[in-house]
This record gives sequence, C-alpha cells and structure tokens, in this order.
Amino acid sequence: MINRPRRLRSSATIRALVRETRLSPEQLIYPLFVCEGEGVRREIASMPGCFNFSIDKLVGEVQRAKEAGIRSIVVFGVPDLKDAEGSQAYAEDGITQRAIRAVKREVRDVLVVADNCLCEYTDHGHCGVIKDGEVLNDPSLELLARTAVSQAEAGADIIAPSNMMDGFVAAIRSALDAAGFNQIPIMSYAVKYASGFYGPFREAAQSTPQFGDRRGYQMDPANVREGLKEAELDLEQGADILMVKPAMPYLDVIRAVRERFDVPVAAYQVSGEYAMIKAAAIKGWIDEARVVAESLTAIRRAGADMILTYFAVDVAKGID
Ligand code: PBG
Repeated sequence: MINRPRRLRSSATIRALVRETRLSPEQLIYPLFVCEGEGVRREIASMPGCFNFSIDKLVGEVQRAKEAGIRSIVVFGVPDLKDAEGSQAYAEDGITQRAIRAVKREVRDVLVVADNCLCEYTDHGHCGVIKDGEVLNDPSLELLARTAVSQAEAGADIIAPSNMMDGFVAAIRSALDAAGFNQIPIMSYAVKYASGFYGPFREAAQSTPQFGDRRGYQMDPANVREGLKEAELDLEQGADILMVKPAMPYLDVIRAVRERFDVPVAAYQVSGEYAMIKAAAIKGWIDEARVVAESLTAIRRAGADMILTYFAVDVAKGID
C-alpha cells in the first residue's frame, strides 16, 4: 500500500512531530470574579473549582496562576452595591478598579484584561441604561467609556468591552485616547451570542436580567454573516483583537472570523461549557483532563489565537 497514514501515528514522538495545533499556557487568559470583603473564597455552585474572591484572596490566586504559567487574567467585579446606572462600574474605588490596582501592585508581569460591561453593576441586570423597558444604546456608551477610562487609570492592560451596544468600540477608543491611553488595546467581544451557555456566569456575577433577556443586543445563535459584520464594524472602530463567544458551539464562527480578518482572534470558553465538562467529570462520565485539552485544542484548531478559559490553571499545570 502506498498510502498508510498510520505511519505517522506510530509513536508519541512522531505524533508530536506532525502535530498541527499546539496549546500553550501563554495563549490562555484566566477569568476571575472579585467580590467585596476580606478572606472570602466562595465557591460558585454551578462552577465547581471556581470562586468569588475578595481582593486579598484574588491576589493569591493570581500568584498561583502565574506559578503555573498563566500570564493573563480577566477580572469581573461583583459589587455589593448595584443601581440603575451601574455606577460602581466606573467608580474610582469600585471593586474592579481596586482589584486591578492590587493585582498590578502585588504580582509582577501579569497582564490584566478588564471586562467592560454594566450588567454586573446594574440592579436590573441588563448591560445598559433602561428606559421604558428598553436598553438604550447611546446613553449606555457614555457610561462604558467612563468605565474604560477608570479601568485604564487603575492599571488595566487591555480593555475588553462586552456589552454589545452599537458603536461601543469607537466610544471607548476615543475616550481612552482623550485620557492619554492611546497605547491600551481593545479586545472587543465583537461576536457575542445571546447564549444559554452563560447561565453559571450569571450566578457567579449575580447578573441575571430581572426582566426580559439579552436578545435585543446580543446576537442570534443562528447567524454567522451577521457576526462577520459585527467584527468588521468593530475593526473599523479600532478593535485590536476580535473575540467570539461562546467557543465550542461556535467553532465555525471562529474559523470564519479567522479567515476574513488579519487581527488576533480570541475565543471565550464560557461558564456553561466549563460547567458541562465539570459536571460530567464529577459523575465519572468523562476524563476531565483529556476532554479539557481536547476542547481547547479544538478551539485553537478552529482559529483562535488565544482562549479565555476557567480551566486555564489546571491546563497549564498539565501541559509540559
Ligand atoms: C458580561 C459578560 C458575560 C459573560 C462575560 N462577560 C455575561 C453575559 O453576557 O450575560 C459570560 C461569560 C461566561 O459565561 O463565562 N456582559
């Protein structure tokens, strides 16, 4: 037989030699939830192994992650005080701003991505300002821009806007530039679907909408062309990195964005993806380490340059 593909599969060494896709800890971004208080390390029921950390505990977790080889984190603030305008999102002493300052002060060479949204900070749980039951676009932009500047002032290295208002990248870019932060990149959650896979995150961040849902601003899971349009608009407005979210159910979208645009592509393996793997692993139905590595490799193979994943530290420990 002339063709025997098995020739290249006969040992671990030769398999490694011909491997097309690699996964390295440098490509992973570890999402963390920070809450008020001291000494708090509260496990999130629907995300076993993930916690709400108070700032002091957060710093320790970031150190642990760094020792495992994880260099980048993304912080989500869970404030005690929520109001209609999400004012803690852009407060100088907001939970996220204080957390960013503490991490940048205490841990060397860690890259901090700041998620930029209002839903964790509003009492109604929506990602923008509400009037007559509607999420208003343009008034929300102003608040996102203020949030971005306050996050940059706190020391954030990258701003990652995730609320899906039209024009959010332009608004944030011009506010950052005006405040002297023209060197801070924007990682846009450009292609973000209205997904059931965010369920556990909403428990973690206590950000479930109190009425309605997010389908009026996040994308319809059925659409891919619309995702490319979103990505294109964000690039025109100055996005430096494009994100697709969730990841594994949207590998075709990651591939399409990768092929169309020449900027780095990020993918977010979201809370529901994490929870499904964890739950099945806890039941003994799948081999966790193997499935985690396979899922992340699949996301890389689809075209993601970097992945936001709650498994970041576990994976980094397991990768040689
Ligand atoms: C904030 C935000 C969400 C996630 C990341 N940023 C929640 C949402 O849009 O409802 C979800 C992340 C996850 O599920 O892990 N807007």
